Amino acid sequence: MNIQALINTAKMLVADDKGLLAMDESNPTCNKRFARLGIPQTVDARRAYRELLITTPNLGVCISGAILYDETIRQTTSKGIPFVQAVIDAGIIPGVKVDAGAKDMAGHPSEKVTEGLDGLRERLKEYAQMGLRFAKWRAVIVIEEGLPSRACIEANAHALARYAALCQEAGLVPIVEPEILMDGEHTLAQCLAVTEQVLHTVFDQLHTQGVALEGMLLKPNMVLPGLSCSRQQNAEEVAEATVRCFLRAVPAAVPGIVFLSGGQSAELATARLNAMNMRFKSCAPWALSFSYGRALQQPAMAIWSGQIANVKAAQQALLHRAQCNRAACRGEYSE
Ligand code: 13P
Repeated sequence: MNIQALINTAKMLVADDKGLLAMDESNPTCNKRFARLGIPQTVDARRAYRELLITTPNLGVCISGAILYDETIRQTTSKGIPFVQAVIDAGIIPGVKVDAGAKDMAGHPSEKVTEGLDGLRERLKEYAQMGLRFAKWRAVIVIEEGLPSRACIEANAHALARYAALCQEAGLVPIVEPEILMDGEHTLAQCLAVTEQVLHTVFDQLHTQGVALEGMLLKPNMVLPGLSCSRQQNAEEVAEATVRCFLRAVPAAVPGIVFLSGGQSAELATARLNAMNMRFKSCAPWALSFSYGRALQQPAMAIWSGQIANVKAAQQALLHRAQCNRAACRGEYSE
């Protein structure tokens, strides 16, 4: 294992106040989003859409890495260029989602455990040969009455750590994503307590499995009140709670925290990241950046709506969100 190469890649992914574009929706998730906008749910529509994203002029100025889906890395652009190469040509580091999805957990109604460890070593070897430099694995945790259970937190943390160790063995930087969902009536304080517990468990498992923290990135949720909670804190309060939680639970050796957007509006995801960097950029031990899916893509996807004539306008919308989020990484975003 070449640790220095992993460290260099992890650092590059959060250098220059850039962040990541998550464009790794599984086929069912991508199809669901297309269906809502009346876009055909076909292999070619997904290919055309991903080509639109990745060929956005100047995207590499704000985006350091793109997380792709297995289907995409085996496709070519309309000019016949393999997607991985097209990403590299855009000055962006290519990565891939490698988990097999969150599945119902035995004996734990409402809870999920992410699968995909079987055969992962062989798949990672192929991904590394294809030129991919990093990977992503997402675990999902819910907050409900009496949940999450210890069983769910521990099973997911263990899988994340085993995935991360296999990635580093294969020369890929693991992005470790434990996502606590926003759905529910829980308060910001409850989200803080659960996030802290989950992160402690994840880092304990990463340590046990011998993962080099310098050669990985953490992709967490922000500390937020549930979507149905009556008290919704402002961006400054969210920033304060989020960074306080991470200062307690995330070792300083981790080079970067790249947040998921998790269903926040594009504007809120940017404003909250901005508030974190305005206040904490100068003192936080890790970069605070983004790895957004919906918060980067949603406006662009809606403008595109499957029409070739809308490609340029959709690309402008994507570039705009990417620029806003890069400004947020500097604490310099204004609406
Ligand atoms: P969202 O930003 O839409 O939550 O997607 C990020 C992601 O990669 C989820 O795994």
